[in-house]
Amino acid sequence: MSAPHATPANVELSERIEGRWALVMFGIILLLLGMVVFTAVHYAAMPPSRVEVVDVTTLHLAGEFVESNLGTGIDPQGNVTVHMLGEQYAFHPHCIVVPEGVPVTFRATSGDVVHGFQIIGTNVNSMLVPGYVSTFIMTLKGVGERTMPCHEFCGVGHAAMWARLKVVPLTTFEQMARTARRVSCV
Ligand code: CUA
Repeated sequence: MSAPHATPANVELSERIEGRWALVMFGIILLLLGMVVFTAVHYAAMPPSRVEVVDVTTLHLAGEFVESNLGTGIDPQGNVTVHMLGEQYAFHPHCIVVPEGVPVTFRATSGDVVHGFQIIGTNVNSMLVPGYVSTFIMTLKGVGERTMPCHEFCGVGHAAMWARLKVVPLTTFEQMARTARRVSCV
């Protein structure tokens, strides 16, 4: 077979294909630009609903993240709340106890760099950013132990940074909470 000749018909055909191709590419560029503009305007118009800051320099000295306040407790409103701190390369406390079947509020922050907070087998997945409090509410189902690996690279000890989460029956938790203001399994 011989190669197609550059007849006027062939030239016209290839110009038509190139024209379409350019049109499609131009469309994609317009679409991408549109997405950039939309997300920028959307974010400016609707900033995150709540941002809670905390002073990293006084984290260990005062406030809710002092050592004696870390762990699981029942706050004055009767809610189960976990206070947690992530630091290179451990979580404090590194073993958390929570009751099964009731909403648990997690409040956590970082004392140094960005860490990851994840409870395997649940949809709890957040970042711990120094200067900010990460809050989420989770009802854990099923008594047992789960792991909580740090999933944001935070330095040489990152792979060894993880904690355990023990889900216990509510009655067991209530018993533990009666003798200690903050419960953990450290
Ligand atoms: Cu902390 Cu990775």
